Amino acid sequence: MSALGQKRRIRDYFTRHKPSFIGGIAALIATQTFSLVVPNLLKHATNALAAHDFDEVRRYALYLLGVAVVGAVARIASRLLIFNAGREVEYDIRNDLFAVLSRMPPSFYAKMPSGQVMSRAINDLTQVRLLLGPGLLNLINTALVYAVVVPLLIYTDAVLAMITLVALPLLVIGGRAIGRRMYEDSKEAQDRLGNVSSKVQENLTGIATVRVYRREAEEERTFRAMNDRFVDVNMRLARSRGLMFPLMGLCGAVGGIMLLWQGGLRLMDGRMDLGTFVAFNAYLTALTWPTIALGWMISLVQRGFAAMDRINDVFTAVPGIVDGPLAPAPFAGKLEIKDLTVAYKEGQPPALENITTTFEPGKTIVVVGRTGSGKSTLVRALGRLLEVPKGTIFLDGVDVNDLPVDAVRQALAVAPQEAFLFSRTIAENVAFGRPEAPREVIDLAASKAGLGPDLTGMKEGLETVVGERGITLSGGQRQRAALARALLLEAPILVLDDTLSAVDTETESRILARLAERTGGPRTTILVTHRLACASMADRILVLDEGRIVEQGTEPELLAKRGVYAEMHKHQRLKEAIDAVASHRPEAAA
Ligand SMILES: Nc1ncnc2c1ncn2[C@@H]1O[C@H](COP(=O)(O)OP(=O)(O)OP(=O)(O)O)[C@@H](O)[C@H]1O
Ligand SMILES: [Mg+2]
Repeated sequence: MSALGQKRRIRDYFTRHKPSFIGGIAALIATQTFSLVVPNLLKHATNALAAHDFDEVRRYALYLLGVAVVGAVARIASRLLIFNAGREVEYDIRNDLFAVLSRMPPSFYAKMPSGQVMSRAINDLTQVRLLLGPGLLNLINTALVYAVVVPLLIYTDAVLAMITLVALPLLVIGGRAIGRRMYEDSKEAQDRLGNVSSKVQENLTGIATVRVYRREAEEERTFRAMNDRFVDVNMRLARSRGLMFPLMGLCGAVGGIMLLWQGGLRLMDGRMDLGTFVAFNAYLTALTWPTIALGWMISLVQRGFAAMDRINDVFTAVPGIVDGPLAPAPFAGKLEIKDLTVAYKEGQPPALENITTTFEPGKTIVVVGRTGSGKSTLVRALGRLLEVPKGTIFLDGVDVNDLPVDAVRQALAVAPQEAFLFSRTIAENVAFGRPEAPREVIDLAASKAGLGPDLTGMKEGLETVVGERGITLSGGQRQRAALARALLLEAPILVLDDTLSAVDTETESRILARLAERTGGPRTTILVTHRLACASMADRILVLDEGRIVEQGTEPELLAKRGVYAEMHKHQRLKEAIDAVASHRPEAAA
């Protein structure tokens, strides 16, 4: 695979499968050579017929048969070779696309919705294949036929050739003008198709929300408007294509008429024999189909290049997070952050600002802060899901930018705030990062994550297949499954982004108490939380506000400070007290 963030050219993919393409083109040349011998054989046969020489006629008939058979074999070979190579290119581009897509940062997906990505990976790719398969085949075919037939026509009768080909320049000029328009239009059509797919996808994903808020009619209306725009541009494309075929056909018809008129005159006054007239007509006929196909081909080629441009929107996007050059070393667990500032978009206020802190091996650090204060951003930066500037995050003193991404992710197991489960069994979901993990290890991780009671309630336990995105589990169960998944990695650093928000305080402290155990060394645990209950077990607490660390220290230190943390603590205590009273009121109990 070539470097990331780089434009890929159709030509490069073509080069990769050069032998097949070249073989196919050679077979195509053979096909055309054989088919172009036909008019000449016909000429001799016709003249022999006129001279009543039936032995000659039989001989030419046999030649014609032989040429037809060999030509057919060559034609089949050319199609197989070129079409298959086109499919190989499609396969290569799709693999390359997937590899690039899986390395793109969130900022890329913020700009390109998944419908647009899908439409590039499916529709645009098909267009590129059509360009390299049938498009290429016909392009070469047409070029070959013209390259051979035009000189033959001129050789046969130069003046008559000029007269019959009078419409050719019109065809070239018209074809180019329409082609240019088709390129723009097909790019737009593909883009609008991407929008339509995005809309469908978003609505399917959010179907429950659409229904609950009774937005069906409104959503239908916006969809219809998008679909209308999609149809509009396709109609424009259809009109261009509709114009192209008659234009090409006209060129052939003009040639035929000219031949009848001027060739007929020559035939009558004896300047041309019947055989030559028939051959001339056969050559002109040989031009007809390639000329008509030219219109279709121009459309294929324009669509194909427009599609490749759209695919290049993905290839040229800079992935941001790339492997560093240093070889990974066994990691002791010291994590340092030095003056880290991160913004999601240039020009936007940073989501994290001047963060400086050190996480010592084996310690538990609790990160608290209001919603939107930057906690998840910090988690993403640590997990290398966000690009971070050089010299800001260090693992055992080594800049993470200098390490392979994989090495960093091996050192840090992250359970993100939104737990995502795949539509597989719970066991497979838990073992997602370590598919080879033995069953006992998966069981242990599940039990440490507090999934035990949930699993006993399910008929198939760990073998239960969850629905798409895990919808058949409760929010808390999804979170715990994601926690088990992170635990299974046995990484020296564990980062939990509010992973236990959906479990009760009691279960939470039970789970947290078991987190420090790890086979193979101490575990640094970074806990992001909204609940301060678990803060007392922390070796250190970081308080974030508006992207900055406003306070840090142990719980007693922070409480003594009477600052932000002490305030949050007071509020939470108050809220707990109110909740406790409320749940004991008779009407609440009833
Ligand atoms: N993908 C994103 N693109 C642009 N801005 C983002 C993105 N994710 C978060 N932000 C912004 O960055 C800031 C910090 O968000 P972050 O998710 O880190 O907050 P948080 O502390 O985790 O909040 P919560 O407690 O609600 O999870 C917010 O202002 C948010 O709007
Ligand atoms: Mg968050």
